Amino acid sequence: MLFGSSVLVMSCVTTWDHRSPFECARVFNAGGARLVLCGKNWEGLESLYAALTSVADPSKTFTPKLVLLDLSDISCVEDVAKEVLDCYGCVDILINNASVKVKGPAHKISLELDKKIMDANYFGPITFTKVLLPNMISRRTGQIVLVNNIQAKFGIPFRTAYAASKHAVMGFFDCLRAEVEEYDVVVSTVSPTFIRSYQAYPEQRNWGSSICKFFCRKLTYGVHPVEVAEEVMRTVRRKKQEVFMANPVPKAAVFIRTFFPELFFAVVACGVKEKLSVPEEG
Ligand SMILES: NC(=O)c1ccc[n+]([C@@H]2O[C@H](COP(=O)([O-])OP(=O)(O)OC[C@H]3O[C@@H](n4cnc5c(N)ncnc54)[C@H](OP(=O)(O)O)[C@@H]3O)[C@@H](O)[C@H]2O)c1
Repeated sequence: MLFGSSVLVMSCVTTWDHRSPFECARVFNAGGARLVLCGKNWEGLESLYAALTSVADPSKTFTPKLVLLDLSDISCVEDVAKEVLDCYGCVDILINNASVKVKGPAHKISLELDKKIMDANYFGPITFTKVLLPNMISRRTGQIVLVNNIQAKFGIPFRTAYAASKHAVMGFFDCLRAEVEEYDVVVSTVSPTFIRSYQAYPEQRNWGSSICKFFCRKLTYGVHPVEVAEEVMRTVRRKKQEVFMANPVPKAAVFIRTFFPELFFAVVACGVKEKLSVPEEG
């Protein structure tokens, strides 16, 4: 078994029927990890549990534990993290897969919503991490994975709160990585650009060969939830530090933002002007 009974806590998996959190739960469950699945919607967690156990081989997998968790409620996060430690004695791997998204002009998004995004995307994951960290440090082992977004590396208009929270959480884990290295605790970030829905999966079409499938996947915009889950699994197994799951255009954007910021800002501003000049339908 790949993860031979490691205790693996994963946050935010309730929209299991689409997106990457469900796929992550599936690959780690199949790999033999003892999963603790945390989400804010009990029915969603139960559906996820049913989906996982219906395909799992009981001789090779553990029954997942379900825990209600609202990441934007800091005291709830602290309680859940302590409960998991009390129950299992340790956590080997923590996967922060949380996400609340918001899109719109900054002046139309309330401060209250900005704070909510920060709580769920920044304070939630760091609180979870801070409660589990002393145990990992004393055991001199552990891995913390953050599923983030390439928007942690550059800002995109109309996503101020989301991008800010992703920058903040990336900054926290980048600093933490060096701090905990001497205790053999690994900090990993996996940052996709855009995660497609299942419907857009090229495999559903009748591709003749695997080479064709490979190139189709690479050229199609965005990554599939299965690819994200497989990359998270590889990141854990190989103890990778930072992964960007992006095609060359967003990777070039990160490069341009770093070395030619004025060019980057001009291109982005141009895009906004073009968007605003298109008359809205209706
Ligand atoms: N989607 C993309 O295109 C994309 C691109 C790059 C990076 N990412 C990152 O990849 C990760 C997964 O995103 P996704 O889009 O694949 O998944 P998703 O479908 O957006 O699912 C995110 C999960 O977070 C849960 N959640 C939201 N607020 C929560 C809270 N306060 N407490 C507990 N759970 C909460 C949601 O639960 P409910 O279902 O109950 O609301 C949902 O299950 C995120 O970190 C995201 O930033 C996504």
